Amino acid sequence: MAQLSVTLVGRRLRNPLVLAAGILGLSADGMLRVFRSGIAAVTTKSFSLNAWHGNPNPVVADLGFGLLNAVGLANPGAQHMIREITTLLRNRVPVIASIFGTSLEELEVVGRLLRRLPLLAVELNVSCPHVKEVGGTFVTNYDLLRKAVRVVARASGKPVIVKLPAEPSRIIEMAEAAEDGGAAGFTATNTIAATDIDVELVRPVLSVTYGGMSGPALRPIALACVYTLYEVTEKPIIGCGGVESWVDAVKFILSGARCVGIGTAFSKEQPEQLVPRILSGIRSYMRRHGYGSIEEMIGAAHKR
Ligand SMILES: Cc1cc2nc3c(=O)[nH]c(=O)nc-3n(C[C@H](O)[C@H](O)[C@H](O)COP(=O)(O)O)c2cc1C
Repeated sequence: MAQLSVTLVGRRLRNPLVLAAGILGLSADGMLRVFRSGIAAVTTKSFSLNAWHGNPNPVVADLGFGLLNAVGLANPGAQHMIREITTLLRNRVPVIASIFGTSLEELEVVGRLLRRLPLLAVELNVSCPHVKEVGGTFVTNYDLLRKAVRVVARASGKPVIVKLPAEPSRIIEMAEAAEDGGAAGFTATNTIAATDIDVELVRPVLSVTYGGMSGPALRPIALACVYTLYEVTEKPIIGCGGVESWVDAVKFILSGARCVGIGTAFSKEQPEQLVPRILSGIRSYMRRHGYGSIEEMIGAAHKR
């Protein structure tokens, strides 16, 4: 029988599938629903110390080959999100709390608030491409990135998974800085900066012009990031970008991902259909290829 279970930052998960940050991740109800559909762990919407209002509408456009979004990390703040997380933990859901901040001081306070919670990990979002204070600061200043990871790890006492941007050409430097700061793992990747134009209105479709592209269009870029990362780090990688089938999930695992994040696909298909279909596809792929466990598959595409 193919073993779908996998270890992530020291915890055994029932399979490699993780809910990506930001999709169905604002309320305990939404995350519980995805967990009950069979996913192994959930990542919350990224939250900051205080409520953050994000960008004015329109903030989402479906381009057919993925979503363009500029939600701008809108969230109700740490205290509210901790209440949602507490409900999830009471229901034995493995939770990754995704956080962001605009300064090291803010990250430290949020980290401390999370200290008493039995989280699977804290995911540090330093890569949102449509929030300048977040996506444009930490990943362009490697010293600051190193410090941010260290501050969150110390304050929270939790494994810190760093969410990296979809930039294959700089991913090694960013990962090295994060690892220096004590990163326990990586999520690759966040959305990639993109735009689209409404030709009738003669203006960008999003209020803030640029957003982040997710879904199938992002997949080959995210895969390149995972493949590259796997060659330079021993830390676990959550591969994320455009996963909507078992084939996509297997591609990420063979490239080096230990877990696979799913986000945008939930905007097209109900979790109750999507998650079991991906899991049963992975299971039959493992049988056909003689893999006894996910562990045996991780990074297998590098060995030929
Ligand atoms: C509407 C929307 C909101 C998102 N919000 C967040 C967020 O709060 N924090 C974060 O780290 N990533 C966020 N993301 C990025 C996803 O977590 C994921 O990295 C990206 O969408 C690629 O995966 P996917 O193609 O499966 O969606 C968001 C993506 C979408 C589409």
